[in-house]
Amino acid sequence: MNSETLKSVEPVVPEDIARIVVSGKSYAHDDVIYPAFKWLRGNMPLGKAYLDEYDPIWLVTKYDDVMEISRDADTYKNGIHNVLLQTRESDEFTRKMMNGKIRSLNSLAFMDAHEHKTYRDITAKWFMPNLIKRYEQRIREIAKESVDEFFALGGECDFVKDFALYYPLRVIMDLIGIPREDEAIMLKLTQELFAGEDPDERREGVDLGPDAVARAWHATMMEFYDYFRGLSAERQKNPKDDLISLIANHRVDGERIDEAHEFDYYIAVATAGHDTTSTAASGGVLGLIQYPEQFDLLKSDIGLVDKFVTESIRWTTPIKHFMRTASRDVELRGQLIHKNDRLMLCYPSANRDPDRFTDPDAFVIDRRPNQHLAFGNGLHMCLGQHLARLDMRILFQELIPRLNSIELTGTPKFIEATFTSGLKTMPVRYTGG
Ligand code: HEM
Repeated sequence: MNSETLKSVEPVVPEDIARIVVSGKSYAHDDVIYPAFKWLRGNMPLGKAYLDEYDPIWLVTKYDDVMEISRDADTYKNGIHNVLLQTRESDEFTRKMMNGKIRSLNSLAFMDAHEHKTYRDITAKWFMPNLIKRYEQRIREIAKESVDEFFALGGECDFVKDFALYYPLRVIMDLIGIPREDEAIMLKLTQELFAGEDPDERREGVDLGPDAVARAWHATMMEFYDYFRGLSAERQKNPKDDLISLIANHRVDGERIDEAHEFDYYIAVATAGHDTTSTAASGGVLGLIQYPEQFDLLKSDIGLVDKFVTESIRWTTPIKHFMRTASRDVELRGQLIHKNDRLMLCYPSANRDPDRFTDPDAFVIDRRPNQHLAFGNGLHMCLGQHLARLDMRILFQELIPRLNSIELTGTPKFIEATFTSGLKTMPVRYTGG
């Protein structure tokens, strides 16, 4: 590290801006969160937020910095501290529940180095495009059925609640090996796990308080465990062509993986896979409604569907952050980041960085280049990215040629959450069939 290049004054983020970035509510309002990110990128691209209820956090808002941190997994680690931003009291609650550890899920996003590789290798091949492709026919059948149901609703519905939530859920549950009759339970548990801050989606019966998010998280996890215990035993006896069978029968150094790692793997895949994809899909349709010339463009050339999917994922950026912790003193953008400092990777900000994207707030389906960071980058880059893209491509290949028009009949609402957020409701009127 060349100490001569280091800036001498620590950039402290103004409290009102810091509060916007750490509050779930802000992510439900584009006109609140994006101006705050714009201010940060322009005035304090790497600023440190000090708020009483939180550890100090570096807010990383520029594309190049999010990329640099993501690609240097030796320096910026996932396992030292919580990979999600939660209050200090929530983190304390997690430590209490997890024998002093901050890890609330034994899944890839919480792991580093050798452990991460060991567990990622179990499914890495399964998620590669050439293997995922073999499910294309199955996914297309689910897409056709879902689109038929959409048109059977008669031309008016809530695009999110009546349609978009269910298609990616069906696909991922089918591939994991969860029976269709249990989809509703999985959806409810996912929402409770990830949207602990949202008044409509948070788990019932959890005392509200500074550690409420962690309390809800642990109660939900126990319910997931009860569910997967039976399914795992069944697949060990009768393996099928699904992810549960792959993981339940996998051996590391000749041993089955322990229950916590096994069940947390299912939870990670079952929860990461559908909320995010459905958010990107419904957000893409909102883009088409707000930018009607883009709808006409896609209608006139369905060959643009892959680009449209990519832009929908950039524009919506369903995962709002992951945290990293510095494993050593390091210099970034002229600032000294101390060992054990925590950094918040603000993906929506990186994806609207004007140094990277022309007219970044606009929805432009044939945007080129479009190397967004909505799937992260480096060692932890989204395991399910090819599946998410395939899901969305097939859905829109089935939907768009049959859809003649679509408009809003009410104001769309977004989920209040700092981790995964996107449309919660979107009332629409549409024609086609
Ligand atoms: C549009 C949909 C999706 C988005 C926007 C998304 C986004 C992300 C992001 C930002 C990360 C963290 C990357 C990093 O730390 O660098 C991630 C990791 C992950 N995603 Fe996704 N994801 C999506 C769909 C899926 C699907 C469909 C699955 C599985 C079926 C999935 C499973 C995972 C897993 C297991 C990880 C942890 C990987 C690791 O730490 O090695 N995701 N995803």
